[in-house]
Amino acid sequence: MATTDFAAADTDQVFTLETMGQIAPQPTPYAVLGYPVTHSLSPSFQRAAFAKSGLAAQYHRIETPAEKLTAVVEEMKKKQFGGWNCTLPLKIDMLKLVDEASPAAKILGAVNTVLNDNGKLVGFNTDGEGWVAAIREEFGVDVHDMRVMILGAGGAGRALATQAALEKCERLVLVNRTFSRVQELAAQLEPVIHSDKLIGSRARLVALPWDETAITEELQTIDLLVNATSCGLKTYDPLLLPARLLTPNLLVYDTIYKPHRTKLLLAAEQSGARVANGLSMLLHQGAAAFSIWTGRTAPIPEMRQALQKAAGI
Ligand SMILES: NC(=O)c1ccc[n+]([C@@H]2O[C@H](COP(=O)([O-])OP(=O)(O)OC[C@H]3O[C@@H](n4cnc5c(N)ncnc54)[C@H](OP(=O)(O)O)[C@@H]3O)[C@@H](O)[C@H]2O)c1
Repeated sequence: MATTDFAAADTDQVFTLETMGQIAPQPTPYAVLGYPVTHSLSPSFQRAAFAKSGLAAQYHRIETPAEKLTAVVEEMKKKQFGGWNCTLPLKIDMLKLVDEASPAAKILGAVNTVLNDNGKLVGFNTDGEGWVAAIREEFGVDVHDMRVMILGAGGAGRALATQAALEKCERLVLVNRTFSRVQELAAQLEPVIHSDKLIGSRARLVALPWDETAITEELQTIDLLVNATSCGLKTYDPLLLPARLLTPNLLVYDTIYKPHRTKLLLAAEQSGARVANGLSMLLHQGAAAFSIWTGRTAPIPEMRQALQKAAGI
């Protein structure tokens, strides 16, 4: 990649398979694919990262319905894109289109970042890695050293649980409204988290139904509580857990960043717990993608500033 002044070739135009022919071959193009994709905040902070690093690149949004994904990927290969991000529901199909995948992407069955290495496509999933970096930044602790409870087992919950298992965290308690989803996830992660380290009589990995008594009991030995459900996105969503379960010793992370403080975070804050929202996870998954593409350390302060501006925070 040429190191020149950042080429201001980016626009807020949303491209499609039919219009992506208009994207210039130089400077090196990157993109985020999604359906819809207009809302994506990735262009804001990836452009800031390329600019700060003095790398000539362009980063676009490409609206990609699932049935057009293969054709869009072929077109990006032809145009020698340096790499791309993708959002749900494309993350699962993207795994089938890459030549190689990282361990986290394989376990998750989902790719959110692709590196085009001279025509060889390498798939990664940086959501979990971004979350670990976010926890370190927000709370000054490593997931590896934590007893973690994750609420939710959709795309985000699975990504975080997989990363926590890869990090071999002290304990991992997985809770979901639809119990079968965490039962399956726990069975899949059991060999991943396994180590010979003895941690006492309690199981290292537990799947729980959404049962207040069971959650209350497990929360007593938890350091880090994470909301990876979508409950809290809407102002009328209920408080996810009763306030009395939120104690001052807890670190509480909500993957939701809009609103800035969900009801869960407000209640946890009131109880004296330390809290943080998901903006840092979004930032750090993007920073990890930038490093994969460029081999450079991501300029976090500039990326954060651009993200906060784009998110209106
Ligand atoms: N900060 C970031 O970078 C980032 C990245 C990705 C996602 N996220 C956030 O993560 C959250 C989940 O996203 P996703 O892609 O995983 O969504 P998803 O695949 O649709 O999964 C939604 C999850 O929320 C649970 N859920 C929904 N309503 C609930 C309720 N009222 N009570 C309890 N559980 C409820 C669902 O349980 P069931 O299985 O029972 O339906 C499921 O586990 C969203 O809020 C999203 O904003 C943040």
